[in-house]
Amino acid sequence: MTDRLESREKVTGAAKYAFEYAVENAAYAAAVQASVGKGQVRSVDTEAALRLPGVLAVLSCENAPNLGDVPDGELALFQSRTVSYRGQFVAAVVGETLETAREAARLVRIEYAEEEPDVRLRTDHPGLYKPDKVNPVFPSDTEQGKPEDAFRDSPLQVDVTYTTPAEHNNPMEPHTTIAQWNGDETLTLYDSNQGASTVQSTIAQVFDLDPTQVHVVSPHVGGGFGSKGTPRPNVVLAAMAARAAGRPVKFAVPRQQMVATTGYRTPTIQRLRLGADADGRLNAILHEVSEQTSTVKEFAEQTATPTRVLYKAPHRRTSHRVVALDVPTPSWMRAPGETPGVYALESAMDELAVAAGIDPIELRIRNDTDHEPGSGLPFSSRNLVACLREGADRFGWAGRAPEPGVHWEGRKLVGMGVASSTYPAYQRPNKAMARAEHDGTFTVRIAAADIGTGARTALALIAAETLKEDLGNVKVEIGDSAFPRASVAGGSAGTASWGTAVVRACEALRGKMNGAVPPEGIEASADTGDELKARDEYARHAFGAQFAEVEVDADTGEVRVRRMLGVFAAGRIINPKTARSQFIGGMTMGVGMALMEESVMDTEFGDYLNRDLAQYHVPACADVRDIDAVWVEESDPHLNPMGSKGIGEIGIVGAAAAVGNAVHHATGIRVRDLPITPARLL
Ligand code: MOS
Repeated sequence: MTDRLESREKVTGAAKYAFEYAVENAAYAAAVQASVGKGQVRSVDTEAALRLPGVLAVLSCENAPNLGDVPDGELALFQSRTVSYRGQFVAAVVGETLETAREAARLVRIEYAEEEPDVRLRTDHPGLYKPDKVNPVFPSDTEQGKPEDAFRDSPLQVDVTYTTPAEHNNPMEPHTTIAQWNGDETLTLYDSNQGASTVQSTIAQVFDLDPTQVHVVSPHVGGGFGSKGTPRPNVVLAAMAARAAGRPVKFAVPRQQMVATTGYRTPTIQRLRLGADADGRLNAILHEVSEQTSTVKEFAEQTATPTRVLYKAPHRRTSHRVVALDVPTPSWMRAPGETPGVYALESAMDELAVAAGIDPIELRIRNDTDHEPGSGLPFSSRNLVACLREGADRFGWAGRAPEPGVHWEGRKLVGMGVASSTYPAYQRPNKAMARAEHDGTFTVRIAAADIGTGARTALALIAAETLKEDLGNVKVEIGDSAFPRASVAGGSAGTASWGTAVVRACEALRGKMNGAVPPEGIEASADTGDELKARDEYARHAFGAQFAEVEVDADTGEVRVRRMLGVFAAGRIINPKTARSQFIGGMTMGVGMALMEESVMDTEFGDYLNRDLAQYHVPACADVRDIDAVWVEESDPHLNPMGSKGIGEIGIVGAAAAVGNAVHHATGIRVRDLPITPARLL
């Protein structure tokens, strides 16, 4: 139980976030968003904006520097007259003050040749196509056996369609950049991101620089949930504006503008067909997904991939169809793919349990498997059943009435639901450096990111353990692209990926140390690329079981989550304190997904209506009164030197299904479209 190392800095305000760096002579940028859903910019009239005292520059497609070939279309800022979605950045103003920049942005007059935007995802959309792969590199479709025939011949059949809405990442700290050029030689970016090395290499490419000319500084980050995993247009905008103004420029995307410009979770329409024998043993699983991307670039979410992992069945199909609409580009949001996919699969499993008259936990145990069904590979470890059993015990599952809609307390209906959870245990190649200092302390450097997860603390614990030193003697420095290159804080792969590099650097350092440390210190470094390539083939995943108890007001339809418990099997837990926070944080987001979160598309104007946290509801403390996460012991020798799996995302996976299944158990009503609002229950 180790406190977050930077906790005092954070609560006293000493920890600096991107916008807070005191660069000298800074100017401020404000962005202008497209006011049409599709079309061409006809003209940009900057006269009124430029007349405002204190305005330094206005940038748009009419005067922006040519960036050449930019692989990520979202970063090709002001490179064309085409408007691909409403809210896209089409101009920017630089001013002496933030107020000046914002007022001038209002004064920029843009005329458009407007076209009708196509923004509605539907399963009969003629533009739906099969992507080459789904994020990041999974096959779009898989098929084993004869799923259609096997389904048709199954005595028990569930054929259901679930929909999930678009959902927006809402980190507390918005996407923020301060850009400072030193002539044309170097670019310093104080930036809020999930990986300084990724921002460094991507931005170097956009501005045709060598990566060594770009320095990204981001020691503290106020959340990201995936939306800061790759640089968003704000980084390019700040760098371009700083060059145009000849001064450092600060730019924070206002929350209202994040909706269109910093990513979101695609809406999904998912058809699930489960065919089983009378004992609930699955014979066929078909999981077919429709989802959206933008016309700017393809993001195809891997929604059905967890169905390749969770249960055995000889006949199986997973498929993804994507349509490029005139919408903002969807991207990563906490467990992209697994979150909506497991919601649908685990809701359908609950429907199968009801159809079979089998307890939902027993049904899942009957369909457990020791090989990953999609690949045939053995699991490095799989403790789903242990999680289900442990959770059933702790949650008091045995007292649950088998039939739904029977447990009344006053005017409230009460019910319990369960769902399985799974998330891949990824690991990526990384570099790290460890130093023994002359004064007896140790320094470890790696360009890792702590986006609020406790990563800094976990890495310090890992380094101290490897060095056999007290934690107080070890300093871990992260969040700086000048440090050894690291992968992003994403895919729940941070601790496993960075930690392995830290272990190897610390081991190398110990090997070099004999006797006194000289005044200049001793240094060692590591690169885990080869080690990763040499690993045996296993299916590596974390598993979990989510439990929820809800009460539903029979008169108003309001759902309250009374209790929630997550039981996880995620390898060795490095720091119980911050790990528990990660789990319950994910589960809390799952409550939001189940009951509140919904980005509403205005099909007439073509953008998302919700613009702030008053219109986009996320759970508050009062919404999660009793929530807990525990874990089962798991020792897995096929992972990494720490024996850890990722924990950042598995907490959200399955959580919404557990709540939805509990609502069904309470009321007998099956809501198949999230979120489960009162209107959908009455
Ligand atoms: Mo996470 S959505 O992989 O940053």
